[in-house]
Amino acid sequence: MAGERLDPWGTVEIKDYDRLRRVFGIKPFSEVIPKMRELGLPLSLHMRRNIIFGHRDFDKVILEGIAKGEKIAILTGFMPSGKFHFGHKLTVDQLIYFQRELGAKVFVALADAEAYAVRRLPRKEIVRLGIEEYVANMIALGLDPDKTDFYFQTNRGAPYYRLIQLFSGRVTMAEMEAIYGDVTPSKIVAALTQAADILHPQLDEYGGYKRIVVPVGADQDPHLRLTRDLADRLHDLAGLERPASTYHKLIRGLDGAKMSSSRPDYTIFLTDPPDKAIWKLKRALTGGRATAEEQRRLGGVPEACTVYDLYLYHLIPEDNDLVKIYRDCRSGTMLCGECKSIGAERLREFLERHQARLEEAREIAKSIVEPPSF
Ligand code: TRP
Ligand code: SF4
Repeated sequence: MAGERLDPWGTVEIKDYDRLRRVFGIKPFSEVIPKMRELGLPLSLHMRRNIIFGHRDFDKVILEGIAKGEKIAILTGFMPSGKFHFGHKLTVDQLIYFQRELGAKVFVALADAEAYAVRRLPRKEIVRLGIEEYVANMIALGLDPDKTDFYFQTNRGAPYYRLIQLFSGRVTMAEMEAIYGDVTPSKIVAALTQAADILHPQLDEYGGYKRIVVPVGADQDPHLRLTRDLADRLHDLAGLERPASTYHKLIRGLDGAKMSSSRPDYTIFLTDPPDKAIWKLKRALTGGRATAEEQRRLGGVPEACTVYDLYLYHLIPEDNDLVKIYRDCRSGTMLCGECKSIGAERLREFLERHQARLEEAREIAKSIVEPPSF
């Protein structure tokens, strides 16, 4: 079981991530941490806790840029379908860290083109969710609206769309199939649009940010491989450089499977009424034993526990508090009921504070993001 190594930041699936690194050439993030220390940069919570486990070119693109005093940017995108949950928060926390601690410019794509092509949601609903659900929650979490460029894909303007056209002439069907498996016209357009999201801030029209990092879950790496190739192929014509990327471990849903809006009982949304969220937490899959006696004797397994995931990723920012929970769980001193009560309290505090900011954040979101006209 989990190698039985005592590591409060570890998770059971660590071996799979090692494989990812070997097969796809993603480098361990731990190798850039000493370089960050040398530059005097603080580590983010998710860097410290090994949740961000891998990178491509983070040292060359981002750290070298910081060392030379050049401007850097971070970019991500969200498909506005469904509600904003703790999985989304993991990415937004990284944007906030780059904005506050590293002085990065932030770009956020609202992937309405993709949502329309892939999910076939009504346009009006996509636009409403993009602004009132996604942008509003990001602002309420602390992303500075004055320093963030939020945009809908279909509204981004001519140079951005020019990139998509140029990309379409520089990639073959065979390459697309090798990366994505079975493709359809809408999936191809979505993939090329995402490449434009990642690369367009480099154009003068959007600020000329040549040093860009994209924080993603490991499952998104195919997009990054395509985007890096496209950057190479358009280097001479459009002056594009390869982006850097970082890879995080995905937080699991409360049943241990993938966290997703489509399984609302196992996903905590940031707009859930606290009582509802706590109800979900109380039913969550833990790493506890079959009986209290057994758990006192053998201890629990935090690595297998979805409540511990929430602590590790989100609810317990103080490292000492987290280590204490880890030890008390492992040693069997604390049982799951007691532990979940601590979690419930933290969750209530967090949601109440967050939701108190949401209304104002929604108004700000509506005033700064331009909706597509149709
Ligand atoms: N494809 C991403 C998703 O399914 C959304 C996305 C659009 C994105 N553009 C992006 C992610 C650029 C990272 C970078 O959620
Ligand atoms: Fe999870 Fe807490 Fe139970 Fe340990 S004691 S398995 S961390 S709920």
